[in-house]
Amino acid sequence: MSKMVQIVIFGASGDLTARKLIPALFHSFCNQFFTDPIQIVGVARRSWDQENFRQQLKNKIDLSLLDPRSSKRYWTQFIQKINYFQIDLSDRQGYFQLADYLREIADGSCQRIFYLAIKPDLFLPTVTGLSKAGLLEKKDGISARIVIEKPFGNNLASAKKLNLELSNLINEKQLYRIDHYLGKETVQNILSFRFRNAFVEPLWNQRYVKLIQISVCENSLVGERAGYYDSSGALRDMVQNHLLQLIALVAMEAPASLEGDAIRNEKVKVLESLRCPTAMGKPEQHVVRGQYNGYLSEKGIDKGSATESYIACRTYIDNWRWGSVPFVIRTGKGLRHRFTSITIHFVMPPHNLFGSWQHKQTQPNNITLRIQPQEGIDISFDVKEPSSPQTMRSAKLSFEYEEFFEHPTPDAYQRLLQDVILGDQSLFIRSDEVEACWVWADSLRNMMNSQPLYNYETGSWGPNISNTLFGDEAFSWVMSVN
Ligand code: BG6
Repeated sequence: MSKMVQIVIFGASGDLTARKLIPALFHSFCNQFFTDPIQIVGVARRSWDQENFRQQLKNKIDLSLLDPRSSKRYWTQFIQKINYFQIDLSDRQGYFQLADYLREIADGSCQRIFYLAIKPDLFLPTVTGLSKAGLLEKKDGISARIVIEKPFGNNLASAKKLNLELSNLINEKQLYRIDHYLGKETVQNILSFRFRNAFVEPLWNQRYVKLIQISVCENSLVGERAGYYDSSGALRDMVQNHLLQLIALVAMEAPASLEGDAIRNEKVKVLESLRCPTAMGKPEQHVVRGQYNGYLSEKGIDKGSATESYIACRTYIDNWRWGSVPFVIRTGKGLRHRFTSITIHFVMPPHNLFGSWQHKQTQPNNITLRIQPQEGIDISFDVKEPSSPQTMRSAKLSFEYEEFFEHPTPDAYQRLLQDVILGDQSLFIRSDEVEACWVWADSLRNMMNSQPLYNYETGSWGPNISNTLFGDEAFSWVMSVN
């Protein structure tokens, strides 16, 4: 017997639904991912009906941007699967009506997925409403799954409280805390690159690595999300989740398998080994925060706001593998280019036969994982200049996803939604993981708040002073990728 998959999206009138979730489901539909029938139900407060909702989606989704192989014919079939249900999330009765509606439109056994693309203060009331309406109970051996968008709490105390309250309503195995960075192909490839290539892993430790830098730069400004952003800042919006996830994947030990818990166990160990920022002393050598000029005049921003739109910091992972290797990371809005990259800088050889590298056109070997937008990997190494006995030059081997693979890389949300449907939690954040991230982020916030807030021009690379985070090492920020 085929099992219906019912995907219920709360916050269906928001941009995430139209720009990410519906296109991701549509791609999956075109690629024949669904072997069982599907229904998508958008849930929001607006008094739309099914036709209004479908029309809104059609207006917002640029079909020409979707995979050209997925013909418009599919869209006509797909849109028929989309329904709408109006609800006021604070009205308890509404959840019972929703339950009646969902049962009415799905015949037989059904895998329900509730996607909460809503404000964080509504997470708990919504899960409570679903629970009271009996929508989280196991039926025919199937339990509903809940996907929760970030931010999960805004500090350790609130994240712990939310974890605890949710655990009274739903099992951890049903909960999918999403971080869309984990759905990016290039981010998933970090583990594949490290643990599938025998030449990489033996070098991936403090014996051979001198420093690791990670940049998640954005050229966009806060835009329409000013209200949310001003209460979060770069630390909570980007570092506590996306950057820490990148660090965890770069630094973790090989998991015993690719099972969700095996991977997450290893990530948690790394996150718990992050050196506590407040214990490091000398905050000016470890953290720089900035705000772009013009931030205070953005609509929705408090005029006296001291929220950071840029943060850079130097941290360490106190374990056997990483010892004293600095991890220097930064993220910011209003920067010159949008790009995300991770560079592993290796040590120099123990004996230098070819003169000091500082005075030549060379640099220590490095590997750069280009996460976006030009996805790829660069390996830099030195070669001897022809006809010269000692002169060395840095050369680069580059791998480009776009050239190598026939198909464009799928969007992060596509992979993540498919994993929720398949019940695979490996790319989702576990409760202890989110708490470990907050322990570190809270400590960094305390340290950061004692530091000056540097202004920087939009279109620049942020406060120049952040170069000092490299300390005495002869490194500087990677300025863009390729
Ligand atoms: C989101 C942040 O999680 O990630 C945004 O809230 C940010 O502020 C976005 O712009 C960046 O995502 P991506 O995939 O464009 O790098």
